[in-house]
Amino acid sequence: MTYSNIIVTTENRITTIKINREKALNALNEKTIVELHDCIDQLSQSEDTKVVVITGVGKKSFIAGADITMFEGKSPTSIRKLILKLQETLNKLEDLPFPVIASINGYCLGGGIELAMACDLRIASSTAIIGQPEIKLGLIPGAGGTQRLSRIVGTGRAKEIIFLGDNVDAESAKSFGLVNWVVPPENLEEKTLKIASRLAKGPSFALNMAKEVINRGPESSLLDAIRMEAELFALCFAHEDVKEGVNAFLNKRKPNFK
Ligand code: CAA
Repeated sequence: MTYSNIIVTTENRITTIKINREKALNALNEKTIVELHDCIDQLSQSEDTKVVVITGVGKKSFIAGADITMFEGKSPTSIRKLILKLQETLNKLEDLPFPVIASINGYCLGGGIELAMACDLRIASSTAIIGQPEIKLGLIPGAGGTQRLSRIVGTGRAKEIIFLGDNVDAESAKSFGLVNWVVPPENLEEKTLKIASRLAKGPSFALNMAKEVINRGPESSLLDAIRMEAELFALCFAHEDVKEGVNAFLNKRKPNFK
């Protein structure tokens, strides 16, 4: 599939996906969702990619939510199909077997923060504006927001954000764990590349195992989840990265993971 609403590049094993609808503040319309879905499917098979970065084209917006023009005159049946497609896309994104970083360069609203929450790490520009404003449209979040936001910030804070629909600035978002780092806008690209490069040089199998057990854990009891942790800890020993990491430590040198 050739893409026009997203721009995909890979350099040094880091794949960057840019949402490319600057005039609409990178809102997610149907075509963008289909392109993202296809791109994530391809990436899940990729042997070359070790880290994915998602950001928005331009200086003003990461993603200003789902494209509201799609909602006009829609029946519950057709909107259900569309929102399930978006949910499926974000579920696939969350399941990619390597770290995914949202580099939040401006408005990050509705479907935008829902997409960012399906990523593993979030780096925000200090000018980013984050929120779930769906209530102001007479709606609820539909792309995982009610669940992922509650799991990240707790139900009390999630209800405040979703019921009132007010935007949150980047520093406040960081203070309740919704973003990991806040940097000045001119440093966002550099900071994102720094974190992405570090992860790309990391032990990819162990990163995959850590992501798997962290993501699956909340669906199980504590005992079942830590048992899964033990199994995946043991599985790491089937990979040559452990030999390299342990040998590097014992010989006081830096590891060189394959
Ligand atoms: N959908 C469609 N178009 C959008 C859009 C969106 N979500 N957000 C912005 N745009 C368009 C505007 O309509 C405008 O287009 P025109 O130039 O053709 O008029 C252009 O982008 C620039 O936007 P503004 O002129 O509004 O820019 P601003 O700086 O004055 O305001 C803003 C920026 C506060 C982000 C404002 O655009 C806004 O409130 N956008 C809507 C945000 C929103 O409600 N998002 C949630 C969508 S619902 C959802 O996401 C459901 C879900 O859970 C999946």
